[in-house]
Amino acid sequence: MKILVVGGGGREHAIIKKIKENKDVTEIFALPGNGGIAADATCVDVKATDIDGIVRFAVEHSVDYAVVAPDDPLVLGCVDALEEKGIPCFGPRANAAIIEGSKAFSKNLMKKYGIPTAEFEVFSDMDAALEYLETAPIPTVIKADGLALGKGVIICFTREEALTAVREMMADGKFGASGKTVVIEEFLEGPEVSVLSFTDGKCVVPMISSMDHKRAGDGDTGLNTGGMGTIAPNPYYTAEIAERCMKEIFLPTVNAMNAEGRTFKGCLYFGLMITEKGPKVIEYNCRFGDPETQVVLPLLESDLLTVMKAVTEEKLAETEVKFANKSACCVIMASKGYPESYEKGFEIKVPAEIADKVYIAGAALKDGKVVTAGGRVLGAVEIADTLKDAVDGAYALVDKISFDNAYYRHDIGQRALKA
Ligand code: AMP
Ligand code: GLY
Repeated sequence: MKILVVGGGGREHAIIKKIKENKDVTEIFALPGNGGIAADATCVDVKATDIDGIVRFAVEHSVDYAVVAPDDPLVLGCVDALEEKGIPCFGPRANAAIIEGSKAFSKNLMKKYGIPTAEFEVFSDMDAALEYLETAPIPTVIKADGLALGKGVIICFTREEALTAVREMMADGKFGASGKTVVIEEFLEGPEVSVLSFTDGKCVVPMISSMDHKRAGDGDTGLNTGGMGTIAPNPYYTAEIAERCMKEIFLPTVNAMNAEGRTFKGCLYFGLMITEKGPKVIEYNCRFGDPETQVVLPLLESDLLTVMKAVTEEKLAETEVKFANKSACCVIMASKGYPESYEKGFEIKVPAEIADKVYIAGAALKDGKVVTAGGRVLGAVEIADTLKDAVDGAYALVDKISFDNAYYRHDIGQRALKA
């Protein structure tokens, strides 16, 4: 079976390594993949947003099944376009990917169907937004409506900051078209939990829970990033919270999307905050999280491709999805300077005996060598019986990996260990 995976980061590397375990898979194409993924798949230089190019490639190479991993091709209708050519896919169609593509959409969905989330207002008119902020409770959270590489959320601790954030988004075009509409939201407090789930629109099967570490610096300081490390399972996601989430959030969301004629099939990601008043949705993603996937999929004991195809064929209820009773930790090694400017082109040295535990994100091939080519360069992932051993193991891997200008956080998993 020939498989096509759209995307080229650490998440895609984790998906590819897991899909490779299926004995029926003869070839995996990664579009575009990256210099590290090239060890596990055939990388083809087609951008993840080049929908026509992806479809053309899939048809020409008689691809049997496609996995569309990143948000932008999903929102652009990559699954719709592949399905039109008869290629079965894992991932939501565009009309369902909007759950991530528009925060105004997802917030209104939650309001309409009574799904717990922060109180909010949506504005397309800047003067109305500025006027609202004159009396809004502070701190407040300003969010660009559309996709913004995870950077379109600004937490404002003063009224001045909030006014500036709105002006930058709505007048100065800081996030382009994504910021033309903004959501102004109540500031919530509590531990955050990421829950990725499989859903075929009929049932929803949560994967093992995880915790991201979004800030660049130790102790959760510095700028927001795509994620500097993850652990799984998340200790704040107790059995009691899980049960509430299923009843109050997961099933109501899947049912709401069905009721709107926007059946969601694929990986639905719930970004949750466990507040004093119970779990609330911070955000939905229409895809696997990055770097959550790098700790979740290595713990999956069932065959990933089988589960994905069951989602496509709407047979998820009859399919086993089993996770190991273990812990995992992923430490992201980034280029110093990320998420702002950084140098690239440095050789990445990973000893062969640990290569299967390393998920490459930002790398290119140059003269036969794998060199850094992005902000987040790779994730080192260890699995162990306890979280403590997983954390120590992941940092032991980091010690064996080297590239110039490497930067990583030293405290991934510490908050979870203290919980
Ligand atoms: P998002 O891109 O929506 O996941 O937001 C990025 C981060 O901002 C989240 O992981 C939270 O830490 C934080 N955040 C988003 N919305 C809120 C909120 N309403 N209250 C407090 N923190 C928030
Ligand atoms: N790690 C958060 C995300 O993938 O959006």
